[in-house]
Amino acid sequence: MLRSALTLFFVPLSTVLGAGLSDSSLETHVDSLALEFSFKPVKEAYWTNLPHHRRTPFAVSPDGKSAYLAYLDSSETDVHVQQVDPSTFAAVGSTVTVTGGKEAGGLVAHDDGFALLTNEALPSGTANAPADNTPVPVLYRYTNGEQTWKTFLGGPGVHEDFGLAASPDLNGDLVFSQEANMYGAYFVVTDYTGDAAGHFGDSIQYVKPDGTLQTINGASSAWGCSHNTGIAFEAADAAPFASICAEDQGDIWLNTDTQSMSGIKISNENTTNGASGEPLGGMSGSYSGLARLIGSDSYVFAWVSRGAIDLRANEWLGGGNTQASNRTNNRNVAIAQLTNKNTLNGQPATSEIGAHDGDSQVNWVTQGTADCSNAHVAAFDGENVLVTWEEIADPFCENIAMGCRGTFTGSYFQLMAGGAKVGEPVKSMDTFVAGDMVTMSDGRICWPYVSMDWKLDQAVGWDGPTDTTTKMSFACMNLDGTGSSNTASSTSGSAASLSTFATSVLTTKAALATAPAVTPTQATVESATSIPLPVAQPGTTRAKKSCSKKRRSL
Ligand SMILES: *[C@@H]1O[C@H](CO)[C@@H](O)[C@H](O)[C@H]1NC(C)=O
Ligand SMILES: *[C@@H]1O[C@H](CO)[C@@H](O)[C@H](O)[C@H]1NC(C)=O
Repeated sequence: MLRSALTLFFVPLSTVLGAGLSDSSLETHVDSLALEFSFKPVKEAYWTNLPHHRRTPFAVSPDGKSAYLAYLDSSETDVHVQQVDPSTFAAVGSTVTVTGGKEAGGLVAHDDGFALLTNEALPSGTANAPADNTPVPVLYRYTNGEQTWKTFLGGPGVHEDFGLAASPDLNGDLVFSQEANMYGAYFVVTDYTGDAAGHFGDSIQYVKPDGTLQTINGASSAWGCSHNTGIAFEAADAAPFASICAEDQGDIWLNTDTQSMSGIKISNENTTNGASGEPLGGMSGSYSGLARLIGSDSYVFAWVSRGAIDLRANEWLGGGNTQASNRTNNRNVAIAQLTNKNTLNGQPATSEIGAHDGDSQVNWVTQGTADCSNAHVAAFDGENVLVTWEEIADPFCENIAMGCRGTFTGSYFQLMAGGAKVGEPVKSMDTFVAGDMVTMSDGRICWPYVSMDWKLDQAVGWDGPTDTTTKMSFACMNLDGTGSSNTASSTSGSAASLSTFATSVLTTKAALATAPAVTPTQATVESATSIPLPVAQPGTTRAKKSCSKKRRSL
């Protein structure tokens, strides 16, 4: 009995170990989708203005027949949603434009249409609207190409007792659970009335399939993680859905049960100025950070971290909260496994004041000196996941808790199972992850990107990136190592269709890029200690808010 059990166990395992992923596992569809409108593929990072991929949400319907891509118009107003053929990745039908949308913040595909999370200014004259046409979060449902409803997830009438919320940047995600028959959205907000007015935090909202906003005790949240620096959100069979936030006080939390900066501490992170090292991609990140294994209650979370040493008490926050210094100059990739939506499979991060090691619980995917960013994860099946990231082999990391700059040295795609690496990662210099990684009905994992000469070596101009494109590409990873024949086109010269950023880089940015580490000053950053807000009590779902987000404050 024992012998045959071992045989059954080892044969498939060794088969997988022998296989891993290879270059032929990666299939690309370069410039397969012609866009009706132009798109800016670069979004500048908070604080540093370093280039990030601007997210293009991508989703496939439950029946596997319809895929949709959402993108922000290059004018930065109007979100376009284009149906895509899930095998050729070419356009199906014409574009649906959601007029006034300011960011493509999340997309769910249905068999009969889609739902889009975006942000938009309220009509002029709206009572209790935020000042200066600041956009508020909104969920749209389209059925067979026509708008069926739209529901605001902030602004007047939404959690008025706590305070009204706007979302100047729609960083977050939208999911739908068939079992719960409910949409969930988790996104960054800034409040403009109430106790948290002027502060950045986050909110979780649930919406029924008919568009009714539902307040669910123990699941909905008007205000959660201080100055949210990254969101990972995935559907569960019932609310609350699986949620993770990175905040600016020193932690990444599995906060499914608390919806706040509390719960199970996944990681200690070094922080400054409302940032924590862009663990979930920073601006335009917050997608495909948490993947649910297919047909399972388990999840896998991926992020990047500089590690944590020298745990100190977070005096401002109190309550046993900690701060840490970074162990490394660069960021490495890590994963955490969840047994289910609110249980970590492994140890939580320590909160022991005075501890030297604050990261001994971390399951590192990389442990080198290359800077890793843009980490994402998706599930092939009930066991195997694809973890991806980008590298700068020789990085300059002069800004504490921000991104690094340097020559881009490749995208990496690592197969993992049961928390362990399987084989070597596949490396690509011309395939990136710039939108949701989706498990297709045939088991491939596919995602959108813009085929371009990708550069991470300097900040984009103060006025933001200028390059635009009207072509979208898609890549897929096959677990069985048989990429389809479309790869022939992957080496064609489409990268030339998008110029490099050199022309948009201003001399002031060159100066910034070589400047010493950012030093917070009273003039540039509102001091956290100056904010008279209630202290978080253990067991409550509300934590102290942090300083307001200051952009381009150098
Ligand atoms: C972050 O790490 C730096 C060292 O790189 C340290 O000086 C700073 O105090 C840390 N920040 C916090 C909030 O602990
Ligand atoms: C901590 O991070 C900063 C910013 O990346 C870096 O300059 C510094 O060298 C790091 N500290 C260590 C000990 O590597």
